[in-house]
Amino acid sequence: MKVLFATSEAVPLVKTGGLADVSGALTTALRAAGVDLRLLMPGYGPVIEWIEGRAETIAEFGFSPFPRARLLSAAMPSGTPLLVIDCPELYARAGGPYHQPGGDDWPDNDVRFGLLSRVAAALARADSPLDWRPDVLHCNDWQTGLAPAYLAHQPGAHAPVLLTIHNLAYQGIFLPGSLTRVGLPWAAFRVDGVEFYGKVSFLKAGLHYADRLSTVSPTYAREIQHEPLGFGLQGLLSWRSKQLTGILNGIDTGIWNPATDEMIPRRYKAATLARKNDNKRALQERFGLEPSVSTPLLGMVSRFTYQKGQDLLLAIAERVLELPVQLALLGAGDPQLENAFRDLALRHPGRVGVQVGFDESLSHLIEAGADAFLMPSRYEPSGLNQMYSMRYGTPVIAHATGGLVDTITDHSPAAVASGTASGFLFHEPAAEAFYGAIGRAVEVFHNRRVWRQMQRRGMDSDFSWDAAAADYLALYRDMAPPA
Ligand code: ADP
Ligand code: GLC
Repeated sequence: MKVLFATSEAVPLVKTGGLADVSGALTTALRAAGVDLRLLMPGYGPVIEWIEGRAETIAEFGFSPFPRARLLSAAMPSGTPLLVIDCPELYARAGGPYHQPGGDDWPDNDVRFGLLSRVAAALARADSPLDWRPDVLHCNDWQTGLAPAYLAHQPGAHAPVLLTIHNLAYQGIFLPGSLTRVGLPWAAFRVDGVEFYGKVSFLKAGLHYADRLSTVSPTYAREIQHEPLGFGLQGLLSWRSKQLTGILNGIDTGIWNPATDEMIPRRYKAATLARKNDNKRALQERFGLEPSVSTPLLGMVSRFTYQKGQDLLLAIAERVLELPVQLALLGAGDPQLENAFRDLALRHPGRVGVQVGFDESLSHLIEAGADAFLMPSRYEPSGLNQMYSMRYGTPVIAHATGGLVDTITDHSPAAVASGTASGFLFHEPAAEAFYGAIGRAVEVFHNRRVWRQMQRRGMDSDFSWDAAAADYLALYRDMAPPA
């Protein structure tokens, strides 16, 4: 099985969120399962820096109206074969993959990700310039959504396309003029095409033209077929429901393993959970929190944005602190949320620690040092942090949505009796419901026997990529049956 995996980010080279984790780890797992896979991504600065001196040019493209580009062949640090689109005019810029240093979107994101899609399509065609032809083109999110549109609007044989939705809220919507900027014919500008309420939608295009669709948890696959989580695309998604599957993400259990994690001061496993308190002390010290083992310490690591529901925490923060608890928060994003959390920390020194920014190693310390982890996400296609947390013996307090439902078993008398309870779920994305769940967790925290049982339950769960890789492989085989 040969698969071209097209993505706009992948660890460890470029990461803004979970898509990068998935692109890095799923591709590794698929290769281990025997898939001949190549990862395709744009040549942003850090990518070019990594492949410098170990890449060769294997094709050149002059797709009108895009600038000329070279295709470089190299390998990821993991060894996964890597194809890089070298087009400095579009990708070699200071700033993020999607945003300028000031935070605004790059004004030519249509062209930047149009080219990514265009190249993915070219490599999936029978007349590809490469000898290596994929059996399946696996696209991810709106950034690669135009690939099946290009294939549909050009005559000639090509591999079938799977589009995986990691987040339906980001759709890649541009003015109609984008169509000419990315070289698609006006014939594509139709309701059964790339048109979405008078604009061009890259994601809608992918959802319409791809042969198969998947998303990153079974619950989210159902939720997006209805309002409000369908974000306007629920009609199309329910119409295509027979071609839509939910495959739950895994996590990189090599990177996220409390028994071997070199980013935390004290390593531990289920049998040595008492050592986790050393990490709690280190986390309290790091944030200038009062050293106390008996006060529950609640952690959060997340993009600060409406999706993740941090505003719900802000609404109840004063009352939550009186339970009493301590808070250790890491995140960046919405400047208003960043400032509100900074203020909260200033008002409650010794009780609330906040770091604004992106910090991989602090994220490990929070997973290891916190007693419980907060995920009040309004929606969560899969979510990775709840799985990291559970593996670190840190039960999660979460809104019952998407992948959070598929990974966490709510604390209830029945779940405690059967030993399956692993976290605390609340059912309305509302501050009061969240407050109730935190209250329940704090109560259980002081019941050491049940708390330990919940911690161990999470640590024993299998969140490896093996199951997901097997499901993707079965899906690929279904799309491109072996001859
Ligand atoms: P999403 O992709 O929606 O942001 P996920 O839970 O799938 O959510 O993945 C988020 C990933 O990004 C996790 O690996 C998480 O630890 C990481 N992350 C998010 N914000 C930060 C941050 N400020 N510092 C370090 N890691 C972060
Ligand atoms: C998105 C989602 C997140 C998911 C990640 C990887 O960013 O918000 O829930 O885990 O993609 O699939």
